[in-house]
Order: sequence, then structure tokens, then C-alpha cells
Amino acid sequence: GWKMEDVLNEEIKVIKGMVGAEDHVICALSGGVDSTVAATLVHKAIGDRLHCVFVDNGLLRYKERERVMETFDQDLHLPVTCVDATEQFLSKLKGVVDPEMKRKIIGKEFISIFDAFAQDLDYKLGKRPAYLVQGTLYPDVIESCPPPGSGRTHSHTIKSHHNVGGLPKDMKLKLIEPLKLLFKDEVRELGRILEVPVAFLKRHPFPGPGLAVRVLGDVTEGNALEILRQVDEIFIQSINDAGIYDSIWQAFAVFLPVRSVGVQGDQRTHSHVVALRAVTSQDGMTADWYNFEHKFLDDVARKICNSVRGVNRVVQDITSKPPSTIEWE
Ligand code: XMP
Repeated sequence: GWKMEDVLNEEIKVIKGMVGAEDHVICALSGGVDSTVAATLVHKAIGDRLHCVFVDNGLLRYKERERVMETFDQDLHLPVTCVDATEQFLSKLKGVVDPEMKRKIIGKEFISIFDAFAQDLDYKLGKRPAYLVQGTLYPDVIESCPPPGSGRTHSHTIKSHHNVGGLPKDMKLKLIEPLKLLFKDEVRELGRILEVPVAFLKRHPFPGPGLAVRVLGDVTEGNALEILRQVDEIFIQSINDAGIYDSIWQAFAVFLPVRSVGVQGDQRTHSHVVALRAVTSQDGMTADWYNFEHKFLDDVARKICNSVRGVNRVVQDITSKPPSTIEWE
């Protein structure tokens, strides 16, 4: 609509005014709607003085890196550098079980990678990039550092989203957050105006800390990440096949750090439990659990136990937000 076009033009004007004609900007692309729309917008404003980086932190979903790099290249024509930082992230997360600690560590590693990327560009361009683009949305701002007068104090902070609360104070890059006042549905509309493919805009949100907040406890323990990737892929694939992906705000699997007894074939098993979570929501601030059909759940649970080694039990999360959050950590 005309309103979003005004927002777009206004944002482009603001970015052009803020970023000097010689300045360079870096942007971390996560493969999600927010960072992609933010990057496309900034690209429109300053062209090839925008340099994008995609970090594989070892906490991505099944084939996520290949899938998003292909989209950036073939659909969006955004030049993106891919950095494989799996070891760097996982070694720092070893033994860490506290959810907020995980977020802080991940936020810190991201920033160190962006700094290194900026350093590389400094050599290449003879000028250090001065800005960092973030796809922060309004709900992130409210939940991480409530605006004055909102009635919430800092102690009521729900989670330190890494792209808001977790940034180190000594970061050298200045922030550009063009989506800071928008809700998710508005970002999708902006994306349509910017000609980001609709299928891409409809992707479910995925948290910055990735699967680290979906493997409860130590993410490096055993093959939790690998199991979670397989389970999640089956779940999402089944949702796609059932034609209900677009009716769901977010759907994903959670790896639980417990084992339960089962029987598979003639064998007693003592294997992992996974939880399935799917919710509907307008903006992620509140959410209702999604009511799948009986047959869908039955098929998915069977498929998961039959094809993912190490899983013998599937449970479904039937809580809304509040009292639960969407993610488990
Ligand atoms: P919660 O779990 O707080 O999630 O109800 C609300 C929305 O935010 C996403 N989320 C995050 N996104 N960094 C992010 O970039 C984070 O640390 C983070 N934690 C939650 C979550 O997936 C949901 O869409």
C-alpha cells in the first residue's frame, strides 16, 4: 500500500543522510525475512557500499546454509560472503547450559566475526566500514529494552535478544536499524515492495541464536544438533506437504536433554525425547499453540521415530504465550 511505500522512501532518505558518501556498511544476513529485507533496503539506498556476510555458526537448520546462499545469489542478487564459524561457536558453547549465557556468548562471537569481516574490508577498500545493519523489529526493542513509559523496567526484560541487548558496549560499528519501528507483517509488506520473493517473505521467523536455544542444555552434547536438524526437517516438510505452512507463525522441534524408555522392534531402547512446537501469532508478542489434525500428528511422530536414530518419543507443546515463550529457552 501507499503507506509502506512512504516508509520505504523515508527510510532510504534517512540512510542516505546518515551514511556519508564515502562510508561503507556491513550487514549480517541470517537467511531470515528481517535481515534480508533490511539489507535489500540499505542496498537500495547506498548500492555496493553495502557488504553482506552470512555466518554459519554451526547452529543452523538442515541445509540452511546452502539454501539461503542460493537465494541470495539467484533471487536477490545480493553479493554475500559466507563465513564458516562452526568450530568457533561450538567450542565457546561447550558445557554452557544457561539460556541467557548462550545468547551472550553467541552475540559476542557474531560481533567478533563482524569485526574481522570489517577488518578484511578495511584492507580491501582502504577504509574501515563504519556501520552495521541489523534487522531489529519493534517487538525485539520492546522485549529487550522496554521504551520509557511502557511500564516495564529493565528487570522485567524477558530475553536479551542477541541483536538488541547482547551487543558489546565497546563495539566500534554504529548501528543502522531500518525496521526498528515495524512489526513482522509490515516488514513482509516492505519486502514485497522491494521485490523480495514472496516464498522467502513467508518463511517462519528463526531466532538469531539458532538451534542453541532449541537444544536444551549443552548444545555440544552427543549428536543433539544433528538429531534436531533431522527431526525439524521432517516436521517442516510435513507441514509444507499438508499445505499449512502459511497458517502457522512458527513451527520447530526442540531437543530435550532427557532419555525415556521405548520399544522398537524387539529391542528395549533408552533414547531421546523431542518436542514439537507450532504457534499462531500476529507479532510474536503473544501466541496460541496450533491445533494439528490427529492424523497429521500421528504420521509425523511415526516418521520421526522410524527415520531418526536416537529418538523414541515425540511430544507436543500445548502451551500458549503467555505463560510460555515461543522458544523453550
Ligand atoms: P519468544 O521465545 O521470546 O520469541 O516468545 C518471540 C520471537 O522472537 C524469536 N526469538 C529470538 N530472535 N534472537 C532473535 O533474533 C533471540 O535471542 C530470540 N529469542 C526468541 C522467537 O523465535 C520468536 O519468533
